[in-house]
Amino acid sequence: MEPIIQAVDLVKRFRVDHQRLGSLKRTLLSWRSRRIEEREALKAINFAVYPGETLALVGANGSGKSTVLGLIGRVYRPSSGQLVVRGRVSALLELGAGFHPDLTGLENIYLNGSILGLSTREITRRLEEIIAFSELEEHIDTPLRTYSSGMVMRLGFSIAVQVDPDILLVDEVLAVGDEHFQAKCLRKVAEFQKAGKTILFVSHDMDAVRRVATRAIWVRQGLIAADGETGEVVSAYLDYAAREDACGDEPS
Ligand SMILES: Nc1ncnc2c1ncn2[C@@H]1O[C@H](COP(=O)(O)OP(=O)(O)O)[C@@H](O)[C@H]1O
Ligand SMILES: [Mg+2]
Repeated sequence: MEPIIQAVDLVKRFRVDHQRLGSLKRTLLSWRSRRIEEREALKAINFAVYPGETLALVGANGSGKSTVLGLIGRVYRPSSGQLVVRGRVSALLELGAGFHPDLTGLENIYLNGSILGLSTREITRRLEEIIAFSELEEHIDTPLRTYSSGMVMRLGFSIAVQVDPDILLVDEVLAVGDEHFQAKCLRKVAEFQKAGKTILFVSHDMDAVRRVATRAIWVRQGLIAADGETGEVVSAYLDYAAREDACGDEPS
């Protein structure tokens, strides 16, 4: 079977402008030699995802999980290497990304839907279902800035799943939802699995990972530390994190 996603020696570097990050004093002192550092978020990784897989990305903060999803979702472009993605991608990557705080929930459905590749007519056709799934009927005409983070996530997830993608990407954002909505998201994910769709998600909830994922990848400091059977990868990651904790270091 042909992979639906394939990464070959995939590298992503981000430019970090120390002048903008630094203090005023440092800025003044270094005005002549503005220092732009390149940070390698992914260091030549290789993996393939096959149609119908539900792949969990696990690992400590800053290890590169969101960067992997951002590359697949075409938020970022690879610095080098290859990334082939075959199919329609829908993504819920960052809370509030693709939304505007001054627009109402309803207006944001159109804004976000069009970013995800739907035409106005397609959005109108799916509108009722998006609003119903989000359970935001009473808030749909108020500006997004009045929404809680959980409400923004509910709207984002409802739109992302209505795009009818081949590949669904979900970053940690689901964690901000309440129990009820999280259970609903998991049911939707199960529906997607049954329909043979491919799902990649990031989570720190190892129970959810064990229940949902058919495979897991542990990302550590921009590299793949383990790739395989979910239970084994999760155990390896947790063992490592516990050992690091015992040493008093941050897990990575
Ligand atoms: N837009 C960006 N600009 C600069 N550095 C970034 C950017 N996004 C991520 N990074 C850096 O890349 C590394 C990996 O980040 P990320 O993929 O967000 O990790 P994770 O999702 O696993 O917590 C981190 O060192 C982070 O600081
Ligand atoms: Mg992240």
